[in-house]
Amino acid sequence: MQEKIDPYTAEINAFSPANADELETFRIKFLGTKGLIKDLFEEFKTVGPEEKRIFGKVLNQFKQLAEAKYTELKETIDSGPKTQDQDKDLTLPGDGLNLGSRHPLTLVRNEIIDIYKRLGFVVAEGPEIEDDWHNFSALNFPEEHPARDMQDTFFIKKNSGQDDIALRTHTSSVQVRMMEMGKPPFRAIMPGRVYRNEAISARAHCFFHQVEGLYVDENVSFADLKQTLYHFVQELYGEGTKVRFRPSYFPFTEPSAEMDISCTICKGAGCNMCKYTGWVEILGCGMVDPNVLENCGIDSKKFTGFAFGMGIERIANLKYVIRDLRLFSENDVRFLKQFQTEII
Ligand code: DAH
Repeated sequence: MQEKIDPYTAEINAFSPANADELETFRIKFLGTKGLIKDLFEEFKTVGPEEKRIFGKVLNQFKQLAEAKYTELKETIDSGPKTQDQDKDLTLPGDGLNLGSRHPLTLVRNEIIDIYKRLGFVVAEGPEIEDDWHNFSALNFPEEHPARDMQDTFFIKKNSGQDDIALRTHTSSVQVRMMEMGKPPFRAIMPGRVYRNEAISARAHCFFHQVEGLYVDENVSFADLKQTLYHFVQELYGEGTKVRFRPSYFPFTEPSAEMDISCTICKGAGCNMCKYTGWVEILGCGMVDPNVLENCGIDSKKFTGFAFGMGIERIANLKYVIRDLRLFSENDVRFLKQFQTEII
């Protein structure tokens, strides 16, 4: 038995593990339930009484040696660095989170929504693929009338007119859906993307964004329209921004107007943003044509309403002085990261 133990004693004394795994292998080999020391004690039971006296002591010393070695090494390994990661300097600052920023069109749309929400308007949405009825006919665009050419349409299906399907050319189609679906009063704004068959340039794009507004109730007047839009402009561009209304034409409103505001860049003095007029156009509006109300099943003797529609890109142009419409859809990070980052 002595000869068996001697080489192991040397092995234990020389043992120097590189990591916790090697130490564990050591423990299993010598001290484990199926380990060497266990086996030696089993064997010890079989030897005669004379040998028991000698080897009992030797065996116990061997066991103590293995246990002491294990305890000592375990303490060293536990108190040292466990993994390579822990060699790093934990006081160094961490990698910053790249939060990104909201798209300028989203910022402007949210601002418009917030202003109208405070006036009691709800937000509604409609489909971007629209039928002839909702995009044109219900809005009083006569069939085969040149008014339809006002907006160069991307048709998905084009036959007779009535069952044509197209990408909506304006968000006014959502007015129709809203009025058909419910009963007055209506007070809603309807933001969304619209499409027109235009060559892409700095000043025109084949898709852009609008916000439509609709207010229908008893006794709604043009004065209500003017005051609502006046309030909106004061909120969006600041107190003292002037407004003016010019007569215009839209098939779905009568009377119709376009609204200008005093140039936000030069404050009316004249600059190239306002083409030296001091005014910039921001939206179209008017009193909902009685034909439109009737087309949507609303009694035009009892109810009147106003509507307005504005381009979000146009509002963002003025707010951030962005002169090229293409920037909005190119997703160039150098452009996008200039806008406010919201912490969510
Ligand atoms: N739909 C018109 C356009 O795309 C904008 C517009 C004008 C909407 C007058 C309206 C309105 O609701 O009353 O050019």
